[in-house]
Amino acid sequence: MLVLGIETSCDDTGVALYDSARGLLAHAVHSQTAMHAEYGGVVPELASRDHVRRLLPLVRDVLARARVPLEALDAVAYTEGPGLAGALLVGASVAESLALGLRIPAIGIHHLEGHLLSPLLSADPPRFPFVALLVSGGHTQLMRVDGVGRYALLGETHDDAAGEAFDKTAQLLELGYPGGPALSALAERGRAGRFHLPRPMIGSGNLDFSFSGLKTAVVTLVRGRDLDEATRADIACAFQEAVVAVLAAKCVAAMEATGLQELVVAGGVGANRQLRAALDAAAARHGFRVRYPALELCTDNGAMIALAGALRLAAAGGGRRGEGSFTVRPRWALDSLAQP
Ligand code: KG4
Ligand code: ZN
Repeated sequence: MLVLGIETSCDDTGVALYDSARGLLAHAVHSQTAMHAEYGGVVPELASRDHVRRLLPLVRDVLARARVPLEALDAVAYTEGPGLAGALLVGASVAESLALGLRIPAIGIHHLEGHLLSPLLSADPPRFPFVALLVSGGHTQLMRVDGVGRYALLGETHDDAAGEAFDKTAQLLELGYPGGPALSALAERGRAGRFHLPRPMIGSGNLDFSFSGLKTAVVTLVRGRDLDEATRADIACAFQEAVVAVLAAKCVAAMEATGLQELVVAGGVGANRQLRAALDAAAARHGFRVRYPALELCTDNGAMIALAGALRLAAAGGGRRGEGSFTVRPRWALDSLAQP
């Protein structure tokens, strides 16, 4: 089954072509990061307009690269939610129109289901069941993944996502947006031990997170202080240490609570070197495996949406044909998803 996948939930326009028999044939992502940078965050209206500009050229580009004619498609999958309403509507309307014109099924996919299943695109895929840590600018969650449509939320953030905390702290240290990678590079030059920041909820006894207090602690630390290069690096180092300590501790707790052997990390923060080092060490100590899918598939992309669409359609024995009416779900709880 040949599925076109479309992702437009936030600030990346992602398109991919996935074939159930041959795997991922082509994928492309256009990142809007540079466009939003001058505003210090994603501007929803600009995001929608840019998706409108980019999406069809990207679809043509992916089909051309895979040397596949539009008529060969068996289905179109798109991100139905959660995300920015206007941005979601762009992907949904293009996908549903294509499906209607081609008389093939269209299927709306939950963005986080895409992330959870994306490790299956790697050359050495994990086997169900596994634990997934989703750490991006928009989400911080630990999930138990038992199969397609079989997800249990183990814990999540009560407020800011880990990437959001990185970005907000980076802004306090005047590192631009999104500041996660810059903050992490600066932290490598910092001295550990000069500053100590709290490790929120590390001893909470559950698998939930909270990162907004950490950002407030950095505000307090920064206030009235001469922010020379060394001080900024030391603060970055203390911040990164705190986030990594909490994420690693909760992953270990999740592995112990579930008794599972495999941990998969998805989302942009999964690129963080110190997080990877901490998780690798924890895995060695506690006897579980940890995997990091290729970064281009960890961050938002169309491939994970195409894959989730193909798996759901296969399990359900086909999908709804485009019938000209559809909806998007800017808010959509993953644990309300039905099994295919
Ligand atoms: O998954 P992603 O590309 O997009 C969504 O949030 O949907 O994640 C982006 C987030 C941003 O907050 C960015 O600052 C963070 O991941 N990030 C990092 C690193 N690389 C990206 N955070 C810490 N260390 C990094 N090396
Ligand atoms: Zn995402």
